[in-house]
Amino acid sequence: MILKRPIYEIENISFDNNDLMVNETVFHNANGYIGVRSNYEEGYPEGFDTIRGSYVNGFYDIADMRQAEKLFGLVEDKQTMLNVADSQTIHLIIDGETFSLFEGSAISSKRWLDMEQGITGRSIVWCSPAGKQVEIVIKRMTSFYQLSLFTIEYSVKALNFKGKIEFLSYHYGEVSNYSNENDPRVAKESGKYLIPTQALIEDGASYLTSQTSKSGLSVCSGVQHKVSKNSSINTKIKEHSAITMIETFIDENETLTLTKYTVFSDSIRQKDCMANAKSEMEKALEVSIEALYEAQREYLKDYWENCLLEIKGDDDLTEAVNYNMYQLIQSVGKDEYCNIAAKGLSGEGYEGHYFWDTEMYIEPFFNLTEPAITKNLIGFRHNTMEQARENAKILGHKKGVLFPWRTIMGTECSGYFPSGTAGYHINGDIAYSVISYYLATKDLDFIADKGAEIIFETARLWMDVGNYYNGSFRINEVTGPDEYTCMVNNNYYTNVSAQYNLRWAVKFYELLKVANKVTMVANRIGLSETEIKEFNEAATCMFLPYDESLKINPQDDSFLTKKVWDLKNTPKDHFPLLLHYHPLHLYRHQVCKQADTVLAHFIFEDAQSMDTIRNSFAYYEKVTTHDSSLSTCIFSIVASKLGMEEKAYDYLGDSAKLDLFNTHKNTKDGIHTANMGGNFMAIVYGFAGLRIKENGIYFAPAIPKVWEEYRFQINYEDSQIKVEVNAKESIFTLVKGSLKQIKVFGNDYELQNRITIPNKH
Ligand code: BGC
Repeated sequence: MILKRPIYEIENISFDNNDLMVNETVFHNANGYIGVRSNYEEGYPEGFDTIRGSYVNGFYDIADMRQAEKLFGLVEDKQTMLNVADSQTIHLIIDGETFSLFEGSAISSKRWLDMEQGITGRSIVWCSPAGKQVEIVIKRMTSFYQLSLFTIEYSVKALNFKGKIEFLSYHYGEVSNYSNENDPRVAKESGKYLIPTQALIEDGASYLTSQTSKSGLSVCSGVQHKVSKNSSINTKIKEHSAITMIETFIDENETLTLTKYTVFSDSIRQKDCMANAKSEMEKALEVSIEALYEAQREYLKDYWENCLLEIKGDDDLTEAVNYNMYQLIQSVGKDEYCNIAAKGLSGEGYEGHYFWDTEMYIEPFFNLTEPAITKNLIGFRHNTMEQARENAKILGHKKGVLFPWRTIMGTECSGYFPSGTAGYHINGDIAYSVISYYLATKDLDFIADKGAEIIFETARLWMDVGNYYNGSFRINEVTGPDEYTCMVNNNYYTNVSAQYNLRWAVKFYELLKVANKVTMVANRIGLSETEIKEFNEAATCMFLPYDESLKINPQDDSFLTKKVWDLKNTPKDHFPLLLHYHPLHLYRHQVCKQADTVLAHFIFEDAQSMDTIRNSFAYYEKVTTHDSSLSTCIFSIVASKLGMEEKAYDYLGDSAKLDLFNTHKNTKDGIHTANMGGNFMAIVYGFAGLRIKENGIYFAPAIPKVWEEYRFQINYEDSQIKVEVNAKESIFTLVKGSLKQIKVFGNDYELQNRITIPNKH
């Protein structure tokens, strides 16, 4: 597959500090294991703010989170993702003049991300204050082929002179995390966590090891240089950092290239991370940089083949959704020691924590494109079941597991429990993701091995948290997805997802029984048939709030009794509301930060009639601010379901370019990975109406007027299906795999080769 717009680029780089910080995020490099922000090698001038960061997925320290009042069970510390050794700094000195974009003049400048090559770049034609002109091209890569490896290829061409070239290249061990005490979305405490313990030079490479202050982990980084021309290279260790001085001469029109290799290794995955860093360095140096680039291209070729998505007639949107899909593969963990953080590996917003974003916004994308990745993500949750069991106990539950609202290694990290720990729907979300993975792949072995245990234990928790009242099963004192409405009874989303979880616990029990696979898991967790009966009964009796007069599902028992927030007269600069109004004030109003009941109407659409869904959509649209980036994509999907393509298109447009246009004004803290998965969903589940249910795969394609055509490709069970939709018709092609029954607009078709079906108007 050839990407239509594989390169995202900006010309004439802005010198504005805020733009620079946003671009540190937008052009960051990551591969799921490491992430490096796109900071300038030479730095910015004094007084400029920057978040200079390199991160290892799943690598954390423990930070204090003292509660003002010491009530039982409140979280007193949290994990925080660490900024590890910095190998980005390279100073270029041309005949005594140090290159800086803030001195001399930039004749031309450009930054780009090449999504087919997996490389970011910066090129500048620079004239020094003394009039020396150079062309500088800097390429960066975090390798998908060798996950430990980050490279910088720094080329200088002398345009109008010959003379001395020096590079001062740094490998800093003294690093700290970014903090901002006024923004709840980043850490507020000062961030010095890593203690350098060892620094050495071997075969010209520097190796620095550091230990975390509390979590007992260590990380090692190694840095080595190669220069394209004979040069004097000298590396020294000074105060836990290494500095390499490179000196040579350049002729007019000659190009000189410095390649800097950095490898990272951590003690979560490796017994001896120094030894591992050395062998990773050896591996990286064994082949040429071109061979490493080639391996990167190969990896991405396969990736793009699996997740083709193209919109004819909207190149900007195609570029934005491809950018987003690229960020997802950059961000997602590739082993079971980690997951995908809300900001990926691009910044320190939300401190590298994993949320329900993974299950509800990102796995639906990987289920259809790279299901093995979903399997890993579920594997991570399974690995952290013991912590979830402990969490349930802390919260007073006698059985079951309660997954943490936000975490890195499995324990709860949310300091403010009303919009953190109280979000019990995380259990329903994780269960939903296991079921969705199963429906997309029919991988029953995985269910027997890991998935069922998650489903049974989360089902057990619902039995413990809920209770019968007047014959119906109720769930009190929880927070649904909407964080402007906290600690409520019978949140519709939570109840309907608990119902689904309980029903599937019964179904998986039966499926595994038939396949002779149930005994092992049942014995492992002491599950009885009586419990299965109880699950069934609670699901049947689940209370789902419904308002007779409005004919909608109220978000919870009290939502409709509250005063409606006056959104029209709220000053524009008071959004997001969470930064301007006390939580209690928000909680007392009908105002939603994000899709809540509307999300439930998408994922559990069969629980309500189309009329109820339509009424609810119209109602919640008026009271939702979309202050969360997880919201507009869901409104887009439900608008599509209700046949409002133009509205759906507007919602999609708002969310697809969120990071490229910094519309939420916090892209400097990192990308919004859930929103990125959400854009894909808005097209595939939204416009194309894809659903995968127990009785098969459904489509109901529609197309917004401004598009000529859109097409995408998905994996389903053992097959790959291509879908092309234009104004008149939809074409379904079985790209590979066995014959499939598909349902389009409710009618059954056999997909053997290719079928064309007229659209509904
Ligand atoms: C949203 C949550 C989300 C978190 C991380 C918050 O703003 O309200 O739903 O999980 O961001 O993305």
